[in-house]
Parts: sequence; C-alpha cells; structure tokens
Amino acid sequence: MAFWTERVVPRIVDRALSTDDVMGLRELACAGLRGRVLEIGFGSGLNTGLCPAEVERIDAVEPSDLGWELSARRRAGSRVPIERTGLDGQRLAAADEQYDAVLSTFTLCTIPDVELALAEVRRVLRPGGSFHFLEHGRAPDAGVERWQHRIDPVQRRVFGGCHLSRDIPALVAGAGLAVGDVLAEYQPGPGVMRPWTFGYLGTAEKRLAA
Ligand SMILES: C[S@@+](CC[C@H](N)C(=O)[O-])C[C@H]1O[C@@H](n2cnc3c(N)ncnc32)[C@H](O)[C@@H]1O
Repeated sequence: MAFWTERVVPRIVDRALSTDDVMGLRELACAGLRGRVLEIGFGSGLNTGLCPAEVERIDAVEPSDLGWELSARRRAGSRVPIERTGLDGQRLAAADEQYDAVLSTFTLCTIPDVELALAEVRRVLRPGGSFHFLEHGRAPDAGVERWQHRIDPVQRRVFGGCHLSRDIPALVAGAGLAVGDVLAEYQPGPGVMRPWTFGYLGTAEKRLAA
C-alpha cells in the first residue's frame, strides 16, 4: 500500500483536482489572501499562481516528497517566494501569530488529527488573520451521509487517509475561528458521485482578543 499511497495517489490528486471547474474554485479560495501565507497540504502546488498580488511569501507544509517534486515547475514559475517549512500540519514549526493568512484546499479531509491541525492554524494566525478553505466533506442529505460513512474506511485506505464525512465548517468553528459565509454545495456530476462531490468554500477569521 505504501507504493500506491506515496507514488500513485499524489499523481491522481494532481490530475483529478486540476480540472477547469476545480481551478475556478481554487481561485475563489485564494481571493483575499495577503501578506505572509501558510499553505497546509501544499500537494503539487495547484494553487500556485492563483494568489493575489498582495501575497508576499508562501510557506508550504507538505509531507509527500512526490507532491513537492510535482510542484517544482509551478514553484519555479511563481512570482512569490515559496519555501517548504514543514511536513506536518498537526505540528507546525512556526511561532505564534506569524501569518496573515492560512490556506487549505482538499487537505482537512486527509490530516489524521484535524482538530489538532486547526488548533495549529489558529495559533499561527495573527489576530485578524484569515483562514481560507476549499474542502469536500459531509453532505447535508442523510442518505448521502450514510453512504459517506459506509465508504469512508475504503476511501481512507485507497486515498491516503482521506475522509468523506468530515463537517468542515463545524470543525473550523470548533477551533475557535469565526466562520464567515460558506458556499456549501454539490459539484456538478452524476448523483452516484455525491458522497465525493459535496464541497465547502469559505473563510474564517481569528478574531482580535476582546
Ligand atoms: C487530496 S491532497 C490535496 C493537495 C493540495 N492541497 C491540493 O489542493 O491539490 C491532500 C494533501 O494533504 C497532505 N497531507 C496529508 N497529511 C498531512 C499532514 N499531516 N499535514 C499536512 N498535509 C498533509 C497530503 O500529502 C496531500 O498533499
């Protein structure tokens, strides 16, 4: 399974999550990023080039060496300096309140202890800083959610630990971030794919201490 997870899954992700539709959603997720940005689960760098001019640098956290290799061409063409600063979103090397923004796309489904990772996101964001997320997760329809729970054990094994049934906005709010407007809807596709296509696009703010 290690060969599949380490050498094949990052290539599948790179292909499957770079369609025109998904790239349009990525652009929306990157809108409003500025200053010093941390991207958790950088993958093959599919968000590179979508960041607004206000972004000064990107620190990337990515455990997969193949993902990082696949991002080489995109990084080389980047206007913004990008540095791989860590391997695990659950344990960030960064000091407290170091980032103006944190970006996560299709990563909160995969990090084993997502609550820990979100606590780290909150810790490293400066007060007033924003967390931008584009994620798939728990569907609002009971029937689809039941299927998500049924499929989850296989999904986790086949797709590098990916969970289908995480309620992303609730997890973000649970970390103490103020969740703003969230676009939550199924992406286009056949009904049978609904366990995989329910997505969340939104931002959350680390509020200034009262
Ligand atoms: C489905 S891929 C998405 C990649 C990329 N964010 C994108 O939008 O294309 C999930 C990513 O999460 C990364 N990941 C897995 N465990 C992680 C962890 N503990 N900390 C940070 N990233 C992790 C994987 O290596 C992979 O790159």
